[in-house]
Amino acid sequence: MKNEQWWKDAVIYQIYPKSFKDSNGDGIGDINGIISKLDYLEKLGIDAIWLSPVYKSPQDDNGYDIADYQAIDTMFGTLEDMDRLISEAKTHHIRIIMDLVLNHTSDEHRWFQEAKKSKDNPYHDYYVWRDAQDGQLPNDMQSVFGGPAWEYVEEVDQYYFHQFSVKQPDLNWDNEAVKHELYDMINWWIDRGVGGFRLDVIDQIAKVPDLKITNNGPKLHDYIRELNENTFGKGEFITVGEAWGANIDNAKLYSNPDGSEFSMVFQFEHIGLDQQEGKEKWDLAPLPFIKLKQVLTKWQEALDGSGWNSLFWDNHDLPRIVSRWGNDQAYRKESAKMLAVVLHGMQGTPYIYQGEELGMTNVQYPIEDYEDLETLNMYHERKKQGYQEEGIMRSIHAKSRDNARTPMQWDASDNAGFTTGTPWLKVNPNYIEINAKDNLEDPDSVFACYQKLIALRKSYPIFVDGHFHLLLEEDENFFAYMREDENSELLVVANFFDQQVNLPLELDLQDYTILYQNYKDTSGNLYRPYEARIYYKQK
Ligand code: NOJ
Repeated sequence: MKNEQWWKDAVIYQIYPKSFKDSNGDGIGDINGIISKLDYLEKLGIDAIWLSPVYKSPQDDNGYDIADYQAIDTMFGTLEDMDRLISEAKTHHIRIIMDLVLNHTSDEHRWFQEAKKSKDNPYHDYYVWRDAQDGQLPNDMQSVFGGPAWEYVEEVDQYYFHQFSVKQPDLNWDNEAVKHELYDMINWWIDRGVGGFRLDVIDQIAKVPDLKITNNGPKLHDYIRELNENTFGKGEFITVGEAWGANIDNAKLYSNPDGSEFSMVFQFEHIGLDQQEGKEKWDLAPLPFIKLKQVLTKWQEALDGSGWNSLFWDNHDLPRIVSRWGNDQAYRKESAKMLAVVLHGMQGTPYIYQGEELGMTNVQYPIEDYEDLETLNMYHERKKQGYQEEGIMRSIHAKSRDNARTPMQWDASDNAGFTTGTPWLKVNPNYIEINAKDNLEDPDSVFACYQKLIALRKSYPIFVDGHFHLLLEEDENFFAYMREDENSELLVVANFFDQQVNLPLELDLQDYTILYQNYKDTSGNLYRPYEARIYYKQK
């Protein structure tokens, strides 16, 4: 494999720093806490850490509201700590991927503080401003977190545009100076030795609010190519764009093998399947299993050779997969492993979200215990609209972003060993049974499964190169597929549900060996609840 494509057989681990490991007892995870867990991550076998934002920030949106791109927030540590993380991670063979939020800044960023002083201020045009329309808002666009996307500033008698919270004003990418400030900042991080970037809501930078265009604006790919040429395009970096508006056609641009844009994008088509069509994520619907297989297959087939997939079930914005599409009660371990097998057997770069490798689960807190602004805004809005409390809480328990953000469960000591202080967000009470220490001591743990899957990807090139063919497309129980290259075949078979079923496939498995199974033994065609196996043969 060419060196510049090191990320093709890599596995990435996402750290949400606030919740990973606290080293100084203030209840908030920090950079020194991450450094103290590098041995753990090396043991897991990952190649890189995607680090959610640690920059200076008022934390309106937990760091996705950046007040200074070149300073570390004191709650996380110092720039020296960050430099140490980058260099110590290297000695553990781990690269650091920084999270770049380029669509917006915090309203407390120096640029915005200047921008709102007067229309003549050189920074005014760094943001997106419009005059009132007939004494009203410029238009009726809504922010992703609820409420209008426009906010009035008296000093300039104009409204600024914010796709997210009112404290996250959108940057104006049509302004050359903005782009160059961002390039300089990115190059400054490159010089500090980072291994790549995850680009927050990158499909929204080329917005055209006058036409109500948010993502996939007409100049989007020009902007991305220019960004690439001026920054990470010059080296061996992994780059992954977050693109809720990605489809197959534009994903081929984003992840063009010619390297002109990113290494890959996060697309979310599978993630939106368990919600009512045309509604919000809070409007729950059962997972349409056949559709899930179709969607993932479509992406596997379409990007093979003409792009690259990112593979993920979880991140800091999503619920825990074992609670969502597995069974976090009777079959927690089995289903967590099955979901890992299904994902890690596919073509693309797998991402593991902190705690996923332990089978961590969702939480069911009363509303007072939630911190996430998206969750709280929705709660109050729906209350106002007359929704029943019970239904709102059901949605929150299923989909709140805080499900993923509860502190990492390290051991069975107080606060799961996350902090000696009071955690900023309550620890999931199940940490006594689910924690890293127990996982590490158990050769059959969920951790051991992830460790094995990562090792397999490193040892068998077919995990990277093999073409994907879905089997049993219409089957209501099995997620089964083949991977095939010139020399070998991989067969992944997973019972996705809690019923014992027979595999309705005539398979001559004589020449195959089993690379992984999530039960101690196997019994032919019979698959127990959530049973998953990976078979391999050389041609
Ligand atoms: C996507 C991030 O993943 C999310 O956490 C954040 O709230 C929005 N972008 C806004 O930056």
